[in-house]
Amino acid sequence: METLVVDHPLVAHKLTTLRDARTDSPTFRRLTDELVTLLAYEATRDVRVADVTVETPLMPMEGTRLTRPTPLVVPILRAGLGMLDGMTRLLPTAKVGFLGMARDEETLQPATYADRLPNDLSGRQCYVLDPMLATGGTLAAALRLLVDRGADHVTAICLLAAPEGLHTLTENLGERTDATLRVVTAAVDDRLNEQGFILPGLGDAGDRLYG
Ligand code: PRP
Repeated sequence: METLVVDHPLVAHKLTTLRDARTDSPTFRRLTDELVTLLAYEATRDVRVADVTVETPLMPMEGTRLTRPTPLVVPILRAGLGMLDGMTRLLPTAKVGFLGMARDEETLQPATYADRLPNDLSGRQCYVLDPMLATGGTLAAALRLLVDRGADHVTAICLLAAPEGLHTLTENLGERTDATLRVVTAAVDDRLNEQGFILPGLGDAGDRLYG
């Protein structure tokens, strides 16, 4: 399990404003959108491409195109929906599948309430969108589902991650699959509190996006 923390002043600036408790919902949505595009730029560095010949107005030359099937983007409802536009801006030809997952407030265990993903993801490159990687239960279940359906390259894009969540992903998935699994995030914070919130964090991303 590879983790990439995107180290860029614009990422740090936008994340700091997201963390600010005074940032209102419209601003939070806009900044999430902008931040995801910056993270997606790094996350798609290994998107699959092929060499093609392109005819410029003057002569043919070797160029690059995305291979087919194009990647599958999977926002995890609800909060991951706030990351979808920022992602598809960079990958407009991507297919989109939806996973609805909610974490029980007491047990912190995730439950899947919606699955609108293709059954066969053989050889598919996937990008999972979820702003918060807290205990890691949600992303571990989501990544497991994608790998079980045949995805061989899955990148989770998160705004924030907790060390506990990264550890859980490695423990649950790290050595148990041949698929390439990666997490791309703007920051790894200090720890979780007793309610499973990331500290210092940014609060509840779903509530701050959607009320
Ligand atoms: C939040 C967040 C992640 C999950 C992270 O969603 O968006 O999906 O919790 O927690 P974990 O790493 O401990 O599993 P939540 O379940 O609150 O649902 P929401 O997106 O509808 O707000």
